[in-house]
Amino acid sequence: MAEKSFKYVIIGGGVAAGYAAREFAKQGVKPGELAIISKEAVAPYERPALSKAYLFPEGTARLPGFHVCVGSGGERLLPEWYTEKGISLILSTEIVKADLASKTLISAAGETFKYQILIIATGSTVIQLTDFGVKGADAKNIFYLREIDDADKLVGAIKAKKGGKAVIVGGGYIGLELSAALRINNIDVSMVYPEPWCMPRLFTAGIAAFYESYYTNKGVSIIKGTVAVGFGTNENGEVTDVKLKDGRVLEADIVVVGVGGRPLTTLFKGQVEEEKGGIKTDSFFKTSIPDVYAVGDVATFPLKLFNEIRRVEHVDHARKSAEQAVKNLFLVALEQLGDSLEELSCLYLKTNSRGILQAIFASEQGTSIDEYDYLPYFYSRAFDLSWQFYGDNVGETVLFGDNSPTSPTHKFGTYWIKDGKVVGVFLESGTPEENKAIAKVARVQPPVDSLEQLATEGLAFASKI
Ligand code: FDA
Ligand code: NAD
Repeated sequence: MAEKSFKYVIIGGGVAAGYAAREFAKQGVKPGELAIISKEAVAPYERPALSKAYLFPEGTARLPGFHVCVGSGGERLLPEWYTEKGISLILSTEIVKADLASKTLISAAGETFKYQILIIATGSTVIQLTDFGVKGADAKNIFYLREIDDADKLVGAIKAKKGGKAVIVGGGYIGLELSAALRINNIDVSMVYPEPWCMPRLFTAGIAAFYESYYTNKGVSIIKGTVAVGFGTNENGEVTDVKLKDGRVLEADIVVVGVGGRPLTTLFKGQVEEEKGGIKTDSFFKTSIPDVYAVGDVATFPLKLFNEIRRVEHVDHARKSAEQAVKNLFLVALEQLGDSLEELSCLYLKTNSRGILQAIFASEQGTSIDEYDYLPYFYSRAFDLSWQFYGDNVGETVLFGDNSPTSPTHKFGTYWIKDGKVVGVFLESGTPEENKAIAKVARVQPPVDSLEQLATEGLAFASKI
């Protein structure tokens, strides 16, 4: 089979790949230089839509409506856009072997791809109950949700099992968003998770209490402190019930499992340095191997604000890390050319490239691009709820506002305070201005004299920073 060769290759066609492609175009990538290789059959899209409007009975989202970069208010990159820019979108192609030493990738169909510079953007995969040997976990109508194909299968089941019963296994992001989406489809929903409250990796008991009551009022039955240990099936191999560790058995026509994700780094095991389950990078998303970058869910990077190395599995970081990596690799390429300011200026006049303009600026300032200085930002939407979180969820907490699940406004939040400073803020039902204010607080980390005063001031504290 013929070998294909590109200057730049991105493995993965998800959020990070799409935002990287836009940045490549901004920087003036030339036709034929860049390829995106994706195992999905569609151009990069905003993955968060899959657990929200994609599943709604009304106001349903479908492609091409949510291709990147609409999720951040940017231009929608339709498949034609890639063609116009001369970017090869190689879809339905899974890379099964990567040899970083010889800069070679091999696909499942046996095609060979060569690159000069590689960006790893393979994202995450789901943890499956079959991984733990749960009996009957391979039954029909047990669903996971990561890619658009998974969402299509789930949409089919929602239609086929109208008015039926669903069990949602897991009380994290997928658990909370999918319970709401299925309930909106008028399905009878039970949610099962092992912890004492939902979303324990972010929520405090106080935050979770609001969501659990709110969901219960919407008709979702919440079962805590136990796990699914087996599934019953009918003669067609379809799931019929979920057996719980505490002995209860729940009837089910549909099961959705959301018990966590795992970054897809297997292709590169032993070839590149890893840390905290991801591929270790510097502040420019360069890995330990020259000419290899890693972005999005797979990258373990220096989180400057907390002086720590972290991996982040959220869309905002996928977008921003991709842009940072591409900006940097253009700058490095120009530096390697050893261009003088005059040469760069001539090149800019010829190409009108933003990357070259940045290089001129950087060269005048005697600096390169800034280190990645990320402020963690997570959000979720379900029913008519919408929350945002910025910063770090460590230290003492202060709950503020109206967290009554029956209140019409339910605007409430939580501050996290460490070493006398606010380091994280959560807000439900904030306005755009209020969300901006909490983001600023998490970035500035203002000192706090008294936790009581913070509780009394509530959102007013954030608004004055
Ligand atoms: P992403 O998963 O987007 O893309 C990886 C791509 O690589 C996929 O196209 C995959 O097929 C491809 N790939 C993997 N291995 C390959 C191989 N060997 N060969 C070829 N292609 C390969 N975050 C948030 O902040 N707010 C939210 O509301 C949501 N909502 C949400 C809903 C759902 C259903 C999911 C699954 C996830 C979210 N997230 C989220 C998380 C967010 O979507 C996620 O962090 C980003 O998509 C990560 O972007 P990446 O590009 O790193 O991976
Ligand atoms: P998660 O880590 O948010 O939650 C996993 C949950 O599964 C935890 O609450 C855990 O208690 C529970 N669990 C673990 N083992 C279990 C078991 N045996 N039985 C029952 N429950 C069990 O992961 P997720 O919800 O699966 O999400 C997967 C990925 O998708 C993550 O990367 C997440 O960031 C991403 N995602 C993000 C959003 C968002 O940011 N709004 C939305 C959807 C998905």
